[in-house]
Amino acid sequence: MKLTFILRQAARGYMASAKHKFQEPTLAVVTGASQGLGRSIAIELAAQLADGSVIATTARSKDGLDETAKMAHEERRNRNKAGEVEIRAVPSDLSKSEDISTTMQSCVKGCAPSQFSSAILIFNFATLGDITKRVCDFRDPDEIARYYHVNVSHLPVLTGQLLDWCKSGEGKMDAVVVNISSVSVSKPVVGMSLYSSGKAARDIMLKVLAAESPNVRVLNYAPGPLLGTRMAETFRTTPNKLHTTKSLYEEDTTRTRVPCKHSAERLLQLLRADKYTSGDHIDYFDIQNES
Ligand SMILES: NC(=O)c1ccc[n+]([C@@H]2O[C@H](COP(=O)([O-])OP(=O)(O)OC[C@H]3O[C@@H](n4cnc5c(N)ncnc54)[C@H](OP(=O)(O)O)[C@@H]3O)[C@@H](O)[C@H]2O)c1
Repeated sequence: MKLTFILRQAARGYMASAKHKFQEPTLAVVTGASQGLGRSIAIELAAQLADGSVIATTARSKDGLDETAKMAHEERRNRNKAGEVEIRAVPSDLSKSEDISTTMQSCVKGCAPSQFSSAILIFNFATLGDITKRVCDFRDPDEIARYYHVNVSHLPVLTGQLLDWCKSGEGKMDAVVVNISSVSVSKPVVGMSLYSSGKAARDIMLKVLAAESPNVRVLNYAPGPLLGTRMAETFRTTPNKLHTTKSLYEEDTTRTRVPCKHSAERLLQLLRADKYTSGDHIDYFDIQNES
């Protein structure tokens, strides 16, 4: 009887001290946050992060980022979260090398690592590339080089800069790096050669990061086929001239479209529970099936 009581008390103590991630102030950076999934991720972070957190959002449109910040503050108020988080807009064009070099500096400007217990970097921004061409239709090598530059080059640079910044503090910060991936890394879809190979490059790059940096938590998250984003609309309205009259979207009828808010919530759930193996590729639908 006495032993049961002691074990129960011990379990209670463990549960009280068991922490989800991000219960302390966190520095978050989200790319492509002026609309679509990136906006929803920034809003969800604002609703869940601790008082004193800073969320740096990047994209080209300052107006879009300002709107995201407005919506994020509103969501935090609606969920009655105590205290404030700062949401800063960092306009930058990640297709330009000079912007890639300076973006992280602007994201952390005026912040000290000692203010935070965690840093999270979410690589959400990506482009589709030309989805009307088959592999053998490409003729201009510069088009291909440009695609990979825009979609891949910023990942290692921004990651290295953030990890250096985290290390520059005296305190020990947890670092989490997330790539927004796609089911297309393992499923060939006609017309998606640039997109899928770019996503596959990002996935394996972060898997290598996980192998090289065991103290960094790394995740490749495929958000599901999203509902109503600009990318989803391009995908929906681009006729598949390649082998049928249907659009690529109409051919992808097997999976239900996912609202960005749901996918962002699922991502935050994964990150907070912190149970994935670093470097894993996890799909929105995998998580639903597990729960
Ligand atoms: N849509 C889907 O069904 C789907 C499915 C699976 C995976 N995903 C992935 O989910 C992520 C988000 O997709 P989404 O549908 O939300 O995309 P989206 O609607 O096209 O939004 C892309 C974001 O990236 C920003 N952006 C575009 N070009 C940029 C540049 N040169 N430099 C900096 N930022 C730039 C855009 O803002 P600005 O125009 O203001 O720069 C926007 O905020 C992507 O990684 C995508 O591959 C999407």
